[in-house]
Order: sequence, then C-alpha cells, then structure tokens
Amino acid sequence: MTFDTILSATAYIRQQLPDFHPEIGIILGTGLGHLAGAVDVQLSLPYASIPHFPLATAESHSGKLLLGTLGGRPVVCLQGRFHYYEGYTMQEVTFPVRVLKALGVQSLLVSNAAGGLNPAFHTSDLMLIEDHISLFLPESPLRGQIPAELGPRWPDMSRPYDDTLLALAKTIAAENQLSIQTGTYVSVPGPQLETRAEYRALRMLGADAVGMSTVPEVIVARHGGMRVLACSVITDLCIPETLREARIEDILAAAAKAEPQLTLLFREVIARMP
Ligand code: HPA
Repeated sequence: MTFDTILSATAYIRQQLPDFHPEIGIILGTGLGHLAGAVDVQLSLPYASIPHFPLATAESHSGKLLLGTLGGRPVVCLQGRFHYYEGYTMQEVTFPVRVLKALGVQSLLVSNAAGGLNPAFHTSDLMLIEDHISLFLPESPLRGQIPAELGPRWPDMSRPYDDTLLALAKTIAAENQLSIQTGTYVSVPGPQLETRAEYRALRMLGADAVGMSTVPEVIVARHGGMRVLACSVITDLCIPETLREARIEDILAAAAKAEPQLTLLFREVIARMP
C-alpha cells in the first residue's frame, strides 16, 4: 500500500459523484448487508470497479461502495468487507478504511456478527463494543512502512471507541427499548470457529464477544484519527458447557433478526451525532 494507491482510488470515487462530501462511513458485517436498504443511495460502485481495491474472493464477491444519505446526512457505506481469513493481507483488509478517510470521513460506524461469550447474552442481542483485544491477530495492519501522512507510528489505543458516540447509542437504545449489551470484543483470525477450550480462554481474558473482523479496521480508523462506534450482533452463544455445533444458517438468521434494530440504531446515531 502506498499513499498514491489510496489517492487514486479516492479520486476515482470522487469523479463519479463530484459534489458529494460524506463525513460518516459505515461498514456492514456478515448478514447485515440489508442495512444498506435504509440508505437513500445516489451511487453504487462495485469494489471491482475501484482502482486498487483488493480483488474479490467468493466471499467478498458482491462488495459495493454506496454513496447516499442516511438519517439526513451524507454517508459512504461499505457493503461487504474483506477478511484476513480470505487470504488478504492486513493492509488489504483495511485499504477501504484508508479510502474512506481520504474521502473526508471523520466518523466510522462498524458492525459485525459475533459469538457471545458473556453468559448474560442472548442471540440477536446487539453489543456496543467498548473495548477490544487484538492480541490474537497474526499481525497489525500498521506493521511495516506506512506513509507518515497517514498517522503516527505508535497510535494510542487507550480509548478506541468514542465515548460521545457510545453515550448517544446507549441513549437511543434506551429510548427505543432495544436489547443492547456493552462489552469487549476479541478478534481472531478464523476462518474456523473456536473450540470450547478457546471460548473458555477468551472469556477468562475478559472478552464478551468474539469475531473475525472489525479490529483491524478500527485500528486503522484510529490511526487515521477517525471517531469510531462499533456494534456486534450476537449470532451464536459460545458457552463451553452448553456449546452446540455452529450452523451458518443459524448465524445468518440471528443476524437477520437483529438487523432492524441495528438499522434503527445506526440511522438515529447518524441523525443525531454531533
Ligand atoms: N467465533 C468467531 N466468529 C464468529 C463467531 C464465533 O463464535 N460467531 C460469529 N462470528
């Protein structure tokens, strides 16, 4: 990744809709792509058409970048993300976040499907991410020579998730009786799910939810100085004593069930964010 590749992807997107200036970015997680249906889309660009975007694998095949409005504000939405387990490097996984920043995005809203480690959680709960554990990722997206224009060598991670946006999200959740939890998200490289011993270990480390995405993107967003709000949808319960075989259909069904709540939450946060 070089500064030039980011600039040329950004210039291409700008050329398609010159007078559009999104300050808010959204990344949609597994099974949560329909949230994009709430966006009043002005332009939809397949990832494959954008210079230097990573080449699609089967999983990220239908990825699109959407420009439009949500909650009355201009947004840019990444419908579909790149995962490390698909074979991308961490820099490829996070390239779209660099492009959002170069487009002028200052606040990033991220969603994902995650396994619930906290025994108080239920499937289809939303969990606002208050902190994360990145230690199981094989490398940082900031490893190596990163152009100095993009951010500091040793970015602070004392509070990756913006307190103001978290407080606003909690208020909106309470006003709308959403089943919302808060907690720590631990990221793993995947693609295999975890063993019971691994779930037990992750819980002992203090995690409330586990998933295969989000943290690389959040690290890069913070490196670039963006404010971040992130929300997991708890798609399966990862309690070692009662663990059942995970089925992708059940995970997608649990994500679909929570999608209206997540859509409401993101739309209202966007409408009311300072
Ligand atoms: N582990 C990792 N990623 C996941 C899980 C899980 O249990 N559920 C949904 N994404």
